Formats: sequence, structure tokens, C-alpha cells
Amino acid sequence: MFKLIEKALFSASITETLSATRQAFHLAQSMPLKGDEAERAIRPISEVCFPDKPLCVSPRDLPRRRLGSEAGKRSFIHAIAHIEFNAIKLALDIAYRYQNLPEQFYIDWLYVANDECKHFELLCQHLKNYDCEYGDLPSHDGLWSMAVKTEHDLLARLSLVPRYLEARGLDVTPGMLEKLYAQKDMASAAVLEVIVEDEVTHVAYGTKWLDYVCEKEGLDREGVFFEHVESYLKGQILGPFNRPLRIRAGFTNDEMDKLEQLDKRDLKH
Ligand SMILES: [Fe+2]
Ligand SMILES: [Fe+2]
Repeated sequence: MFKLIEKALFSASITETLSATRQAFHLAQSMPLKGDEAERAIRPISEVCFPDKPLCVSPRDLPRRRLGSEAGKRSFIHAIAHIEFNAIKLALDIAYRYQNLPEQFYIDWLYVANDECKHFELLCQHLKNYDCEYGDLPSHDGLWSMAVKTEHDLLARLSLVPRYLEARGLDVTPGMLEKLYAQKDMASAAVLEVIVEDEVTHVAYGTKWLDYVCEKEGLDREGVFFEHVESYLKGQILGPFNRPLRIRAGFTNDEMDKLEQLDKRDLKH
């Protein structure tokens, strides 16, 4: 199974990434991992491969995505497809990189990777309605850079990737859905409804495994989470936060209160 994860992670082909991820997911459901873990050499994260397209540019150089126009909608859907493709690699990387965890850890992250394949394909299918294919528009690599920074630290990875970056999806998607419904764009809204519901589970797995590691090491989860979030984000913690969805994903009310205190938006404007 780890061979398949490795194949998916270190392939620059979209088709091969999707098919190896799905095979790894199905294999993990049916076969115990015992023995598979032994003598596994882990390749550095810098070797993980991505397709040649989309072109990677700085977030500053991306056009603003306004949902009102056809072009704006196209780049909005393309941007989410890019997030979902990166999310496949992120979930694979968690399952690949960290060793000596319970079997269920690997099963859970492959479940997430398989969900991300589904999200990505739904968006690619939807992009066709805009005469567009994944890779046609430029994108940025904000998500992946956080994976790179947390390569050697599982506590930081779980705090920053599922419980911060993915959780931001829970904060912003309901607002996007409202706009899409107001525009009567039921096709785009239907895709986002599927995604947001699945993402609650992904963030919840972040909580579950951060809890597990903290408990094993005798650490306090909330302390660990805020320590990592503050040090990696250098204080750039941005709201607003969707409390009901985050509570479903395992955040406590105390964590939500503290996040709101740390929100660095200038609320006067
Ligand atoms: Fe997703
Ligand atoms: Fe996700």
C-alpha cells in the first residue's frame, strides 16, 4: 500500500495520481498494513511531483475572482480545483511521511485523499461548462508550502494543514454558497455543498490525530495547536470563523474564543 501512496505522491501525471490514490484507498480498506511499514525509506518532500500546468505564480499576480462574470466564475472554479488537487497530495503526504502510527491513521488519511480525488473530478467536470480544463489558468502554491514547512513535525502538520488551512474552507464556503444561490448558480452550489460536508470530516480527522499524538506524548492539545499556529503563521491568523462547522470538526468553544481573540483583521473597516 505504501508503494501505491509513493507512486501517487511522486507522479506528475494527474491520471496516475488519481488512480494510484484510489487503489491505495481500496487496498487499505481490505488489507491490514502489518509488515508493510518495515524498512520504508521516506523520500524528502522536495521530490514530490506536480503537473507542469497550472503555472505557479505569486498570489499577488493572480487576477481577482469576481463571481459576477463568466470569466470570474471560471477562475473561481479553477482555483478550487487547484486547492483540491493539492489536497490530494497533502493527504497522501501525511499518510506517507509519518511513521509508527496506528493502522487507522493511514486508513483515515487515505479516506481523505480519496475524497479529495472526488472533489477534484467534480470540479474538472464542472469546468467543462466554462470551456476550461484544469491547468489552463495560473495558480499559487500557498497550501503546499505549509506542507513543506512542516515536513519534519507531525504536530505542526496536523495543526496547520487540516486544522488551520482546511478549516479555513469551512469558514469561507458557506458565504460562497450564499452568493451562488443568490445568482441561481445551482450547478456550482451543488459541487460546493458536497465539498463542505466532506471537509468537516477531514478537519475532524485533524482533531482526532492531533489528540492522539498529544495524549501519547502527555501534551495539552489546545496549547500545542495555538503554539504551532502562532509560530508558523507569525500572528497572521485571519477570521471570521464558522463556529458551528468547526465545532462539528472537533474545535472546542475555548479554541473558538481564542481564535476570535487572535483574529488579526482590522475590524474597523
Ligand atoms: Fe476537498
Ligand atoms: Fe479536505
